[in-house]
Amino acid sequence: MTSSEAKSRIQKLTDQINHHNDLYYNKSRPQISDYEFDQLLEELIQLETKFPEWRLPDSPSQRVGGTITKEFATVVHRYPMLSLGNTYSSEELMDFDGRVSKGLEGDPYEYFCELKFDGVSISLIYENGLLTKAVTRGDGVRGDDVTTNIKTIRSLPLRVNAKVPSRFEVRGEVFLPKDIFKRLNKEREDIGEETYANARNTASGTVKMQDSAEVAKRKLDCFLYYLLGEEVEAETHAEAIHKLETWGFKVSPTYKKCKNISEVLKYIADWEKKRQDLPLDTDGVVIKVNSLEQQERLGFTAKSPRWAIAFKYKAESMSTRLNGITYQVGRTGAVTPVAELEPVFLAGTTVKRASLHNANEIDRLDLHIGDYVFVEKGGEIIPKVTGVDTKRRNHGSKKVNYITHCPECHTGLIRKEGEANHYCPNEKGCPPQIKGKIEHFIQRKAMDIDSLGEQTIKQLFDLGLVKTPADLYDLKKEDFLKLDKVKDKSAQNMLEGIIQSKSQPFENVLFGIGIRYVGKTVAEKLARHFKSMDNLSKASYEALLEAPEVGEKIAQSVADYFHDTNNLKEITRLARAGLQFESSQKEPAQVSTVLGDKSFVISGVFKNYERDQLKDVILANGGRVLSSVSGKLDYLVAGDNMGPAKREKAEKLGVKIISEAEFEAMLKT
Ligand code: IVH
Repeated sequence: MTSSEAKSRIQKLTDQINHHNDLYYNKSRPQISDYEFDQLLEELIQLETKFPEWRLPDSPSQRVGGTITKEFATVVHRYPMLSLGNTYSSEELMDFDGRVSKGLEGDPYEYFCELKFDGVSISLIYENGLLTKAVTRGDGVRGDDVTTNIKTIRSLPLRVNAKVPSRFEVRGEVFLPKDIFKRLNKEREDIGEETYANARNTASGTVKMQDSAEVAKRKLDCFLYYLLGEEVEAETHAEAIHKLETWGFKVSPTYKKCKNISEVLKYIADWEKKRQDLPLDTDGVVIKVNSLEQQERLGFTAKSPRWAIAFKYKAESMSTRLNGITYQVGRTGAVTPVAELEPVFLAGTTVKRASLHNANEIDRLDLHIGDYVFVEKGGEIIPKVTGVDTKRRNHGSKKVNYITHCPECHTGLIRKEGEANHYCPNEKGCPPQIKGKIEHFIQRKAMDIDSLGEQTIKQLFDLGLVKTPADLYDLKKEDFLKLDKVKDKSAQNMLEGIIQSKSQPFENVLFGIGIRYVGKTVAEKLARHFKSMDNLSKASYEALLEAPEVGEKIAQSVADYFHDTNNLKEITRLARAGLQFESSQKEPAQVSTVLGDKSFVISGVFKNYERDQLKDVILANGGRVLSSVSGKLDYLVAGDNMGPAKREKAEKLGVKIISEAEFEAMLKT
């Protein structure tokens, strides 16, 4: 393909993918399959790697991330990002209405009501139709430039195709949808990481992550609710919102124009329950004067507008009896205390149990069995015990003492310094840990043995047929026939599922064996970096630290795993069973020979590439990648934060040191 052919194909693909993206994420009317969509995106990414000079500023390849930001630049807001006054009762709202009425000196006015989304506020700058900057609220005057992270939000237009002012600003709320938050926490629990407290904090942490590829995986979303700009032509907030909708921004359809404060009160009452069914957390209603001219007349106090106010819903809370505490043991041995409650109806569901997180939480609440506790469903999905009604405490009631031994296998629990959780150390003999490890191994992201499930694993374990994942590969059809209600056909299915799993790629195996803190992403990076189980198992702690995504905690965990003789035996058995122990990642296809067999060492952090990607680009363009600086080396590609020792050595040996930009220029020669 010639350069000019590539240019026009890149342009076409960019437009096409952005169009389908909008149909899928904003209009819920997809016209092509996910597979076709991925194919187009893949083609675009390939072409952009080969012809980076033709990558467009609204390229959808930015949605998958890949840029690392060490420190976010500070940006001063053109219009300060103010907060809203809060009200908690209809009386307070009537007072607000009185102030508005007085401020407008008897002129008629209307309100515009929206839900108050519980996320992270963001300011987006569009210039000549292109999204050029996304800035966090910060202190209201200056925030952080998080553009590369925000560009991963699929529902956000990177370019607005309608006729729009040359410069405008849109504000809204970035959030993590409830179902995604739930899934994320499940995954964290699965690899032994502590779970996140709520979706809002998680969204806020995600917006500030250094690796935009990780942000992309989190699947943030964004609702817009404010349009600003000198050239924006609108007379009311309703019109501005309508403009945002027609320009392709995602606006929550929950808004309503209200003629007076009684209609506002009705809106508030209508949404109190209904809001639980929305895909995101909301904590109130925002009431805005609709006319923009009237907004201007009312103006601002030092902290907030006089033309808008927030009404906050009370978090629904009920008091109920704490009947007892049970303890759950997870795959990693982490023990979670659970409050067993007298059933109580709360925010649409009957609550019988609530998580107590860990021993610190029990101490903080000073729980006694039989206490009446307050249970709340706030932003969290799992109800929470927020306090104790001490007035209703029975004399002589027993203070909860945290268990000292595993409720399942009676081994003494341990608690590592600095960790909130207690652990059962009996990894190899504690039933829920054994079953949990096998369930982890068969899951879709690992060996994908969907012919087995939790119940089957339980029975296989109870019958003494499996104690470790490797035991699965020794099972025979007769073994499955011993299970409850299993006949010939399903026994055959189970067996075949296990056999087929042998072709799962190395990274799935690596994730499946369940090394603590090694989630799917880390497993993928390790597989790519070390290429085989053999290399990985022999890697030193220092060598592990060199791999992308691997910090001290993960390096230590991997090193410990391969030091354990039981684990090594298990690994040997899995190898004998025929599982994939080598990375099948193909070397990148050759696209040019412009680097003419020159050798490169990569060091530091790069703006446009992850280290692995940069390696691929070098290989794809005919270069070679070495791991250490020597006299034979042609180029040292220096990113940010490169170690001084490497630089000194290269200088001493007369190796040419080039920047990322200089490297990119070499590709174009
Ligand atoms: S309007 C000048 N509308 O609430 C006021 N804010 O306490 C502009 N928020 O920082 C804000 N939903 O992050 C507005 N529908 C909504 C909102 C909303 C949530 C957040 C926003 C703001 C905070 C104000």
